[in-house]
Amino acid sequence: MKNQFSAGTGETEAGRLTLETAWRLLLFATTMTVLTAPNATAGGNEAVQTPSIFAPVSTPAYLTRELTWIVLIITGAIFLVVAGLTVYAIMRFRRRRGDDGREPPQVYGSLQIELAWTVVPILIVVVLFLVTTRYIFAIEGRPPVPETLEVTIVGHQWWWEIRYPKLGIVTANELHVPVSDPAHPTPTFITLQSADVIHSFWIPQLAGKMDVIPNKTNRIWIDPQKPGGYVGQCAEYCGLQHAGMLLIVAVQSKEDFAKWAAQQRAPARNDAEVQAGRELFSSLSCINCHAVRGTAANGLFGPDLTHLMSRRTIGAGVIQNTPENIRSWIDDPASLKPGALMPAMKLSRDDLDKVTAYLLALR
Ligand code: CUA
Repeated sequence: MKNQFSAGTGETEAGRLTLETAWRLLLFATTMTVLTAPNATAGGNEAVQTPSIFAPVSTPAYLTRELTWIVLIITGAIFLVVAGLTVYAIMRFRRRRGDDGREPPQVYGSLQIELAWTVVPILIVVVLFLVTTRYIFAIEGRPPVPETLEVTIVGHQWWWEIRYPKLGIVTANELHVPVSDPAHPTPTFITLQSADVIHSFWIPQLAGKMDVIPNKTNRIWIDPQKPGGYVGQCAEYCGLQHAGMLLIVAVQSKEDFAKWAAQQRAPARNDAEVQAGRELFSSLSCINCHAVRGTAANGLFGPDLTHLMSRRTIGAGVIQNTPENIRSWIDDPASLKPGALMPAMKLSRDDLDKVTAYLLALR
């Protein structure tokens, strides 16, 4: 039988997209786990967790889990009572051999029953409302402590721009933050903005979702208490590559974070052996969209490439950052990420090699 859920192609499409998102996130988490296994990489020693709200490592996520359990227990109890009474009624009053076929006495206008099924649900809703409000204020009302890291994250179709205004760092798709000791918290406050459409910032183990809205600034904070890699994903449908808008948060010890920040602050490397590639890159339209600090490239439309090779993935978590993938990406991004807004550069093989060599030197 046809019903409202299977009627239109739109529903099926949405279902497929949600499935694709879930699948991508799972693949990404698996890839990241392999990539960042203790002896697999030189740069990152963080193991990547499976994104689950039931494995929190940061205060807002702990509070979210607490609230989730409260709501699940209350609604679970309601479900058991309703389902239990339904099953009881079906068994107890089922049609039996020898029934006289008459309807049972019909009850109209029972004040007690009507009061009960009006007042009790209102009380339950009020309780859920008050509990939720309390948690929202507990999360949002937290005053910034003296030692906070300020980060601005800008959602783009389909990648995340990450800026550390006070540190002078610009990167993409890989947020590095110091671990926060509950005794001496060093939380990270994130300002969320969008360059185009509505996205949603969500790292399930660190905090709840927060929409990223054009012409509006939203704030969210995290205080991850365990070093590691935590994956997240844009959580608001934002176009063709919504499912390809992944994000990794690398939570590092204070020393490792300081090392990372110093390395990111350094100007782009200026290797003599990739001179030809650098000149070619500067002569192409690459520099209208990409920035390489200290060069003529100062575009803002695409990710900053100053330390491109320090990142684990390209295309916002869609593929691993390897020399072959960098070369294929420059040649034709759509072959790796259909719909990516970067055009195919249509370079000759020789030029492609030169530009690839230059980007590989941006460590
Ligand atoms: Cu950005 Cu979905």
